[in-house]
Amino acid sequence: MHILILGGDGYLGWPTAMYFSNRGHDVTVVDNYFRRNACTELDVGMLYPVPTLLERARIWHELTGREIKVVIGDLKDPEIIRSFFNGRVSYQWAVNQGFTGIPATVIHYAEQPSAPYSLINYKYANITVANNLLITNNLVWALRDFSRDTHVIHIGTMGEYGTPNIDIPEGWIEIEHKGRKDKFLFPRHASSLYHTTKIMDTDLLWFGVRMWDLRVTDLMQGPVYGMETEDSAIDNRLMTLFNYDEIFGTIVNRFVTQAVVGYPLTVYGKGGQTRGYLNINDTLQCVHISENTPAKKGELRIFNQIMETFSVNELAEMTRRVGAKLGYEVEINHLENPRKESEEHYYNPTYQGLIEIGVKPHYLTDDVMEGMFQVVANYQSNIRKDVIFKGIKW
Ligand SMILES: NC(=O)c1ccc[n+]([C@@H]2O[C@H](COP(=O)([O-])OP(=O)(O)OC[C@H]3O[C@@H](n4cnc5c(N)ncnc54)[C@H](O)[C@@H]3O)[C@@H](O)[C@H]2O)c1
Repeated sequence: MHILILGGDGYLGWPTAMYFSNRGHDVTVVDNYFRRNACTELDVGMLYPVPTLLERARIWHELTGREIKVVIGDLKDPEIIRSFFNGRVSYQWAVNQGFTGIPATVIHYAEQPSAPYSLINYKYANITVANNLLITNNLVWALRDFSRDTHVIHIGTMGEYGTPNIDIPEGWIEIEHKGRKDKFLFPRHASSLYHTTKIMDTDLLWFGVRMWDLRVTDLMQGPVYGMETEDSAIDNRLMTLFNYDEIFGTIVNRFVTQAVVGYPLTVYGKGGQTRGYLNINDTLQCVHISENTPAKKGELRIFNQIMETFSVNELAEMTRRVGAKLGYEVEINHLENPRKESEEHYYNPTYQGLIEIGVKPHYLTDDVMEGMFQVVANYQSNIRKDVIFKGIKW
């Protein structure tokens, strides 16, 4: 199977590329280093240096004999996406990389993925809107024009739903109104401009499904934690990028890093904010199972991709407990909340769909967090305290 990964240099994209490559798929990754360049521009640092995408593909080939094809290109350019599907590879770079065959599955990770980034100022807001919506729209039109059977797996976010005062289903809700019934996308309440673009992505994909019978799986993912996967274990140079700053770091990754470097945990406000979480290895599993059981033609299939829920206070307590066991004295600091969000709220999402099709969850236990502490501690001298919290305001 030929699998195309948009955003293949990213936190989730690179481990996904190795995962499918290791299972015998023909994998092509596309990226323009947006994430790395944004980290450089904003000077937020990463826990350890990561070789370029081309270098990583070369290391992967040397160690496994398997090939991951790399294309460096900006997916805002429609011609780049179209060239993967129109059977006429017009780009010399693609030919040089040995590109062949129309992808059976495209995994769409290529977005500006940070809520604080999208709210730094109008410039970053514009970048987020333009980047995320153009890429998704380009993909929809390329499939419409050349390859309606290709299965799209898009990573949405649980943040599309917000924190409503009613239970959250997996994507859809049936509404009875004045004696008549119909099924709709569940009402969405984004908590940032980034999350708003993810809602609009879902709408663009839903439009393509209704108009042109595209097949789409949209995975509403919660914040991911962890950095090690089975495939990266063979060589440290294959580890995925890891941010611990306020802009690009996800909360568990940030808390563990803060604990290791003796920075009081940055809990925003009361800390009752509750979300669904998952291990990076479960992202791979969920995407793999979705690829194995594709959405039907003309179907927008939505799963909530989380394995368990925690409040920020529960995560902070767990970090303190695990840190104490390892000899770290972890302090918890309730900061004035720079975000506009409910700090105490009802939260009851459904997340059975992926488990029903075969996903076996990994949970965030003390042992799992201890493993993360050990990896982060190896790079303690790289950690910059000045990038941990800047307080980007909503
Ligand atoms: N990591 C999480 O916890 C999490 C949670 C929920 C949803 N998501 C979603 O999952 C997806 C992947 O997230 P991630 O954490 O791996 O983010 P990431 O930033 O590490 O990966 C995205 C990749 O896409 C690339 N990209 C962005 N714009 C591009 C463009 N115009 N052309 C080519 N490449 C481009 C980036 O350079 C980056 O390598 C995103 O859509 C994100 O919204 C992530």
